Amino acid sequence: MKKANPAKELYHRLRVLSCEQLWTEEVPAFDRADARGRMDRVGLIRAVGVVFSESGTPAQREQARQWLRALLHDPEEKIRRYAMTALPKIGAEAGEESELLRLLEKTASDREKESLSRTLEKIGGSATLKSAAALASRSLQKVEANVARHENPGVVCLDRPLKNFADLRMHLHCREGLEEILEDELQEQIAGGAKFRLVRRRPGRLEIAPTGPFMLADLYALRCFSAVGLVLGTVRNETGELAALMASPLARQVFETFTEGPIRYRLEFVSKGHQRAAVRGLAARVYELCPALLNDPRHAPWQINILETPPGCSPELTPRLRPDPRFAYRQDDVPAASHPPLAAAMARLAGRMENETIWDPFCGSGLELIERTLRGGVGHVFGTDRSAEAIAITRENFAAAVKNPPASTLARGDFRDHAAIAGLKDLSLIITNPPMGRRVPIPNLPGLIADLFAAAAAVLRPGGRLVFANPLPVEPRGHSLKRAFRRKVDLGGFHVNLEKYLKQ
Ligand SMILES: C[S@@+](CC[C@H](N)C(=O)[O-])C[C@H]1O[C@@H](n2cnc3c(N)ncnc32)[C@H](O)[C@@H]1O
Repeated sequence: MKKANPAKELYHRLRVLSCEQLWTEEVPAFDRADARGRMDRVGLIRAVGVVFSESGTPAQREQARQWLRALLHDPEEKIRRYAMTALPKIGAEAGEESELLRLLEKTASDREKESLSRTLEKIGGSATLKSAAALASRSLQKVEANVARHENPGVVCLDRPLKNFADLRMHLHCREGLEEILEDELQEQIAGGAKFRLVRRRPGRLEIAPTGPFMLADLYALRCFSAVGLVLGTVRNETGELAALMASPLARQVFETFTEGPIRYRLEFVSKGHQRAAVRGLAARVYELCPALLNDPRHAPWQINILETPPGCSPELTPRLRPDPRFAYRQDDVPAASHPPLAAAMARLAGRMENETIWDPFCGSGLELIERTLRGGVGHVFGTDRSAEAIAITRENFAAAVKNPPASTLARGDFRDHAAIAGLKDLSLIITNPPMGRRVPIPNLPGLIADLFAAAAAVLRPGGRLVFANPLPVEPRGHSLKRAFRRKVDLGGFHVNLEKYLKQ
């Protein structure tokens, strides 16, 4: 049977109280108690940290901070440890940092040293770095990362060439089902001079290699991938080997070339779930090998994913660009907005005709219309959506994305009323991601898709195309729309068919 933990039980009882109740009843009772009574009530300290940080006013948090700070001088080590653990939640400052550092110098208890290090990992700054000798290297790297994040957070550089590229491979990840379209895009770039070659196509990714010096901007010229990973190699799933690869000359060169400022990375063991101990252990080894590489989950410019690639595993470096520069035009969003690389893939699947007249019956935030327009050759854009807000967002995104926009008609309304919109006929392309009935229930989804086919048959000119993500296994009635493409695409938990029809 699990042993009872009275401090934890008390914490759970007190955690549901308000700041006022804790401050006017529990804290005074704690302060009045004798040494034994205080030890029995130690769970209160944790509750104060959590409750005041979640719901305290600035003045209440300040009171709590002063109280916790005073407890750092309690004769009982356990009370001091609880106080130092609660402090970062409240928002500790330079004053607390120097008190903690003084305690670190004084204490002979390993347990207290460990707690102090953990707290300083969270709140330590330049003063802590000066006391580096007293800290374990794992804590030191956390503090270095904190200081870097505040003083010089570092950014990924898209426009610097990587010269020693020979051992590097890249994974262009995409939604499963889009590999063929992404490959088509890659081959077009290669034909235009991009220095890459396709190594192989796998479900959900293309594996490519550089054939010359390249910049990240060359990769981000491709719009249909969802994330790019720079693959350092494959080793056994063993901390020492992984750390050696992550701190290898190739890794350093990639990081140094593609980063301006300190190199901070978030680390994740993909497909293994939450692995805090493994992440801490591996990050500590990497730091020992290369102190310039700082593990920091918060706002880091890099993500390192450890991918299982049986029989071994491969660290993959991914730039964390927020926003993604390819889709930085997105000023705003609708609830069921398309995944931007899917919109780009649909625009590519649509192909290009000159002086196109295009329509998105369910334009939402406008991504399909924008992605198709960015490929050129569009003469007139029609967008309809039954939400006025969506129409406003499409307008805003369009203005941010396209410098010389084509003529456009963006109208609020049901797509079935298309005949009322002047000029919406003889179209060359309908491109759309219809409602799927997932987030917003659709009373009659089969009816809506049937009506979409009917509208396409009515307004497309012969040779015109309908490109859409079909959530249902249904076909158009009659012979006027002929299917030219169908692929099952994983939209993250559910599948649709990406389809293209030609008007006969
Ligand atoms: C999947 S979202 C479209 C997302 C869009 N492609 C984007 O990039 O944001 C579907 C959109 O269809 C609109 N909608 C749903 N039923 C409609 C209807 N009958 N007529 C017109 N618009 C409709 C919703 O308001 C929603 O914005």
